[in-house]
Amino acid sequence: MAPVNVKKICCIGAGYVGGPTCAVIALKCPQIQVTIVDLNQSRIDAWNSPDFSLPIYEPGLVEVVKQARGRNLFFSTDVDKAINESDLIFVSVNTPTKKTGVGAGFGADLHYVESATRRIAAVATSSKIVVEKSTVPCRTAESMRTILESNCRPGCHFDILSNPEFLAEGTAINDLFKPDRVLIGSLQTPEGKNASAALAGVYGNWVPKERVLTVGLWSSELSKLAANAMLAQRISSINALSAICEATGANIDEVSHAVGFDSRIGPKFLKASVGFGGSCFQKDILNLVYLSESLHLPEVAAYWRQVVDMNEYQKSRFSRSVVETLFNTITGKHIAVLGFAFKADTGDTRETAAVTLIRNFLAERAYVTVYDPKVEVSQMWQDLTEACPDWTLEQLQKYVTIVHDPIEACKDKEAVVIATEWKEFLEIDWQTVYNHMSKPAFVFDGRLLVDAEKLRKIGFKVKVIGRGERV
Ligand SMILES: NC(=O)c1ccc[n+]([C@@H]2O[C@H](COP(=O)([O-])OP(=O)(O)OC[C@H]3O[C@@H](n4cnc5c(N)ncnc54)[C@H](O)[C@@H]3O)[C@@H](O)[C@H]2O)c1
Repeated sequence: MAPVNVKKICCIGAGYVGGPTCAVIALKCPQIQVTIVDLNQSRIDAWNSPDFSLPIYEPGLVEVVKQARGRNLFFSTDVDKAINESDLIFVSVNTPTKKTGVGAGFGADLHYVESATRRIAAVATSSKIVVEKSTVPCRTAESMRTILESNCRPGCHFDILSNPEFLAEGTAINDLFKPDRVLIGSLQTPEGKNASAALAGVYGNWVPKERVLTVGLWSSELSKLAANAMLAQRISSINALSAICEATGANIDEVSHAVGFDSRIGPKFLKASVGFGGSCFQKDILNLVYLSESLHLPEVAAYWRQVVDMNEYQKSRFSRSVVETLFNTITGKHIAVLGFAFKADTGDTRETAAVTLIRNFLAERAYVTVYDPKVEVSQMWQDLTEACPDWTLEQLQKYVTIVHDPIEACKDKEAVVIATEWKEFLEIDWQTVYNHMSKPAFVFDGRLLVDAEKLRKIGFKVKVIGRGERV
């Protein structure tokens, strides 16, 4: 059986994953036509905008889209047409944590995956390879297969593959150009292996063969949850140690450095912070917790649950330390929060620690001024209104101000809180910031970003996460 020669690819979901991933496929495979579709008209309009004001910010993304758009890369809301024309379809829709019903707060909301799958079955007039790109619970491919087989037209055959995405926001293009690995899961049948070979052939246009791993479907689905759980676990482990550092006078940077020198551990992902955010870590761990509970493995569920609990603890511990340091009250005080995105080099705010910090400061009735170089102002208001359901927008706007300049954000404030590790915060003229702040002027570094000694020489009182120095 010769592998299918993939000529046309469709990607359902033009978000943070579908957009960059399939734009890179189009760039690297000029012989393949790639159409990225979404139901969200304004998102597609932004992908198609003449001035390349793309709906997501990602370093290097504009250059990729500039080269491929209109050549073999297209963005459209015509989902049915794209499905019908393609040999291979990526399903890259959102899989957020369920908000209500069975598994609320833990399980993945799979209704976007299901409706995309049903759409494929309803409109496809020829056989397709359907690829799970979304992060899904183990054995979702089985449900997709049942839906496709029960609803498809006679003569249509579907092969389901799992091909989870491991890119990290902020470095997505580099991650896609040079992935550590590409994982492809398939049924171990001749048809499954044949479909797997077809997708491997697409990646083979730029990814070295030894980096394309082919495994069973369920291993592939579980590997994605496992990878995110283990990455987040490292952050929670180092954050747990940062609390011990603060209590003992040890320095978390020195501890991480020493620990990371062990070649079995390695230095990456050992940076203490105010907590991890983003659309994936928490969601995927909670998904793993839910899966473990459903499989009657309560000890396994409790183990992974603790990674998320530690992350919540870190955010509230940091907020509490701001209050305690500012003489046990921040009521009526003015605090600048630098950074709103969940990490640097992205405009994504999903599960960002900044929102939790601001909500905690508002609970104390502090006034907060926020600055972020990439997050849209409307997105900040949306996130804050969702995070503070007891506040009207009018009340929020009395206490929160959003500005477009970091120096202005810090002017006349009692304290500056660094919530995102944007490089530009390193380059701020801290002397000017100091001159215009109320005294004593405090800096709380939740990202181990600034040179605390330099700031202390200027006159700041600096509190850095994971360091036991007295301010
Ligand atoms: N964001 C990341 O860093 C990242 C990394 C790896 C994996 N993932 C996973 O990839 C998946 C997608 O994540 P994302 O961040 O791109 O989400 P996203 O919310 O940015 O994008 C999903 C898109 O799918 C569209 N959509 C939903 N249902 C649709 C349908 N039936 N037809 C057409 N379009 C539809 C939505 O309108 C939205 O634009 C998730 O499962 C996520 O867990 C995300």
